[in-house]
Amino acid sequence: MSDSERDQLHVPYREYHSQNNTRNQAALVETDALVDLSTTPPPQSSSSSSLIATTTPQINHQFLGNKIIPPSLLCDTSDSLPEVEFAPNTINDTNVIIDSTGIERESQPLLGRLELDVTFNRFSDDPQFSELVWQAETAIDNGIFPERIYQGSSGSYFVKNQAGKIIGVFKPKDEEPYGRLNPKWTKWMHKLCCPCCFGRSCLIPNQGYLSEAGASLVDRKLGLGVVPNTRVIKLVSKTFNYPRIDIQKARMKQVIMDQFPAVGSQFKRLGLPPKIGSFQLFMDGYKDADYWLRRWENDPLPTRLAHEFQLFFERLVILDYIIRNTDRGNDNWLIKYDPIVAKNSPETCTVKIAAIDNGLAFPFKHPDSWRAYPYHWAWLSQAKLPFSEATRELVLPQLSDQNFVQDLCDDLYQLFKQDKGFDRHHFEKQMGVMRGQILNLQQALKDSKSPVQLVQMPAVIVEKAKRDSDTPKLFSFSDTFTQRFQNKSPFFSWC
Ligand SMILES: Nc1ncnc2c1ncn2[C@@H]1O[C@H](COP(=O)(O)OP(=O)(O)OP(=O)(O)O)[C@@H](O)[C@H]1O
Ligand SMILES: [Mg+2]
Repeated sequence: MSDSERDQLHVPYREYHSQNNTRNQAALVETDALVDLSTTPPPQSSSSSSLIATTTPQINHQFLGNKIIPPSLLCDTSDSLPEVEFAPNTINDTNVIIDSTGIERESQPLLGRLELDVTFNRFSDDPQFSELVWQAETAIDNGIFPERIYQGSSGSYFVKNQAGKIIGVFKPKDEEPYGRLNPKWTKWMHKLCCPCCFGRSCLIPNQGYLSEAGASLVDRKLGLGVVPNTRVIKLVSKTFNYPRIDIQKARMKQVIMDQFPAVGSQFKRLGLPPKIGSFQLFMDGYKDADYWLRRWENDPLPTRLAHEFQLFFERLVILDYIIRNTDRGNDNWLIKYDPIVAKNSPETCTVKIAAIDNGLAFPFKHPDSWRAYPYHWAWLSQAKLPFSEATRELVLPQLSDQNFVQDLCDDLYQLFKQDKGFDRHHFEKQMGVMRGQILNLQQALKDSKSPVQLVQMPAVIVEKAKRDSDTPKLFSFSDTFTQRFQNKSPFFSWC
């Protein structure tokens, strides 16, 4: 595909609008949950150099939190409006002028019917994250596209800001290791040649993006501070892996739109469809844990930093154990450390941990087939020390509180239920495993056990007791739980 063809295909789904029916004052305004759908009268005249969407009610977006759009992003439409005119709308007289600061204006989408998406990427409880996503969207609009991470097993992308700096990692649902559009040939071979070993039987397939966001949710709730902020968003970029049919469809619609705007205006969307996936904050200056762990074997950390590292390590253990991560190799967590600072000014030096790649967690049963999916940190020397007092004080009160645990399950429910394939029965089983893990962890912390001792505890499942039909539903809030041990073990215990 040539570059110009590719350009035509890129259509950001984020919506723009210009207001007050004075084209000269058109502006790109960020949107939030508040959307005023009030309409204004059509402009007195229209010129062929303006893009007028007559089918779209005027959307009077509000500012996002306190964020004010920088003047550089405000668009003077007098010389930047594309030369397309929408057909007049007989149902709704409203005219909206659509503009763009993007370099690919001619491929802007048909706007106005994606109102639902407008608020999808906005998090009222996390304006900083919303701002981060907004930066990514703006960069894509301006031709700075996400880049695939080549070493990973899934379609993961480094997402950049306008300055070309990496700010996040986006993992679309349909490009996950076993997703329909996974771009890696190794996974394709795996599927083709070894279907019996395909996937992990204890995980719900193709919900890695929820697991990524779920890990971040658990981290936030417990105040662990080891998972980079991760949430579910939608992005569109021509650099993502799309099926040929979507590419052809987008191209066809664009041609129709250019030739017959009246017909084209009936399309629900122009351009490629947005992809749902997890978006994680990029951790600057961090390296794979493996890198530093190997170096520290010969050149150990100073005592103070070793203690600081131990505290973060324990938090990583707690996270992984609660979510029953099945993929925690030493390449799936990062460490930030600067040996030069450690040498020159040891008192200011710090060491930090980031738990990335949490897409293979929240199983609905404990591993019981071929592989045990052990936690690889259990082989580290740090795992032999008992949990510290600081860690116990941080998490034990929360984990011992049944309301807290229920609250956590409720929040995960809100997150997981947005998946099209969500199944309540499977979700309850996932929570059964998680509650069992929490129970074990609670006991291990009370008994001052070490992470190694923790992972040796027998796997427990804590399920909601089945209510007999006589119990009135009103009393369901006082759910009772039953506890049972896992009796089946996987064939290989070391992998
Ligand atoms: N949030 C992040 N901050 C910094 N670097 C990151 C982040 N997420 C991923 N990376 C980098 O990208 C690499 C690949 O990421 P990740 O492991 O999440 O992808 P993946 O496709 O799921 O890989 P796999 O499943 O094969 O482990 C990591 O090894 C790390 O170097
Ligand atoms: Mg990885």
